[in-house]
Amino acid sequence: MKRPESFTDSGGQKMHNPQPICYAQNQSVKAYLASDPWNVESFNRLAEAARDKGRVSGLTHKYYRYPARFSPRFVRAAIEQFTSPGDLVFDPFMGGGTTLVEAIALGRHAIGTDISSLATFVSKAKTQIFSNSEFKRLESWASALQEKINIHLPSISSQYYFDAGYHKHLDSSLTWRLRKVLEQVLASAEALPSRKLETFARCVVLRTGQWALDGRRQIPTISQFREAIIAHANEMIHGARELRTAVNTYADYKPKATCLNHSIIGFDTKKVFSGSSPKLVLTSPPYPGVHVLYHRWQVDGRKESAAPFWIANKLDGSGASYYTLGARNAKDHWKYFDGLRSALSTVASISSEETTIIQVVAFSNPSIQLPRYLEVAEESGLSEVATPFVSGNEDGRLWRDIPNRKWHADQLGDVPASQEVVLFHRISKQN
Ligand SMILES: C[S@@+](CC[C@H](N)C(=O)[O-])C[C@H]1O[C@@H](n2cnc3c(N)ncnc32)[C@H](O)[C@@H]1O
Repeated sequence: MKRPESFTDSGGQKMHNPQPICYAQNQSVKAYLASDPWNVESFNRLAEAARDKGRVSGLTHKYYRYPARFSPRFVRAAIEQFTSPGDLVFDPFMGGGTTLVEAIALGRHAIGTDISSLATFVSKAKTQIFSNSEFKRLESWASALQEKINIHLPSISSQYYFDAGYHKHLDSSLTWRLRKVLEQVLASAEALPSRKLETFARCVVLRTGQWALDGRRQIPTISQFREAIIAHANEMIHGARELRTAVNTYADYKPKATCLNHSIIGFDTKKVFSGSSPKLVLTSPPYPGVHVLYHRWQVDGRKESAAPFWIANKLDGSGASYYTLGARNAKDHWKYFDGLRSALSTVASISSEETTIIQVVAFSNPSIQLPRYLEVAEESGLSEVATPFVSGNEDGRLWRDIPNRKWHADQLGDVPASQEVVLFHRISKQN
């Protein structure tokens, strides 16, 4: 299929075509897809991965259900399509670290930033590579959990987190027992001999705490909790082993993940990138007008709890708008787009002509917000790239339905935002 040099989309935005790259006969399919990432075949594969509705699984992806997380299958397909082993992949809004996990598992280097200390904690936990002796230590920690969890034994409560309000809604007649056993497991995590092991163990508690408390109508019993945390610990050790095996396949490239707790706005890129540009920026910023609760669990009905920060031993930021580029409601969209402009300008400043920038975004009102989004990207020094036609993307873009999401689009009332778009950019020629 012949692609036009450039075309104008329905929103009036000019889209540019990258130059196609030649394909040598004896390449493997994967190498071919990576050598000409802009061909139809590559895009059909990517579109299929983007629209996959399968459950999240594999590697360390199940460590935590981060709100609005990427589909690992889509991330894997995009990394394979646009980069080679040894390249650098960057996610400025890394969330639960899906991009970083897939990048190192495919032998790429990865850098991620997130304004949330919880997101950074989860991403770190998911990208740690353990030695054999560390695995042994974790296995014996997991097998001791059976005895550690005992409602009749005392627990150590953190006065600091209690005083700071992180235990709010965790001392009701329904929740206090769970808080007590969470404290017992956290004490055993703290007793582990290194920060790395402690991070893993805290993440086991985090996952099980989320399972037990977040959005549950019925709080589990202590024996159900015990059974679940042991199963989670073992499954997570298995995931960490899978990740190590994958990373070791690319040992020559020494793939490494760097997770930074920093806002991308005003981020001093020089120290971290030191002149090297990412080959791929793969990210999903907060969405305009779509309310996602990144930093809270909803316990005992819909009462908001900061418990995940207490479990991760991290301090919280300053309310929902801190995590959503300033926007909490429709009136704040100018704040959102202002923040987005600064963020994308930073992305443009570290990108080279070789960098592909992929963003996955949902909108509460796509017909107004998508053109505005593209305008802001253009003002930040990014130009949208035309992708080959893929069935189902009538406006020339790749849209995907969002399965089972519980966040809401403000302008439509309590109606779930139902679609995300995948946007492709390169830095503008004048940069
Ligand atoms: C849609 S989520 C990313 C989810 C991620 N793709 C994953 O797979 O888990 C958006 C993230 O942007 C982060 N964020 C919001 N403002 C930010 C900023 N100024 N700088 C960096 N991260 C920010 C939020 O904390 C949130 O984790």
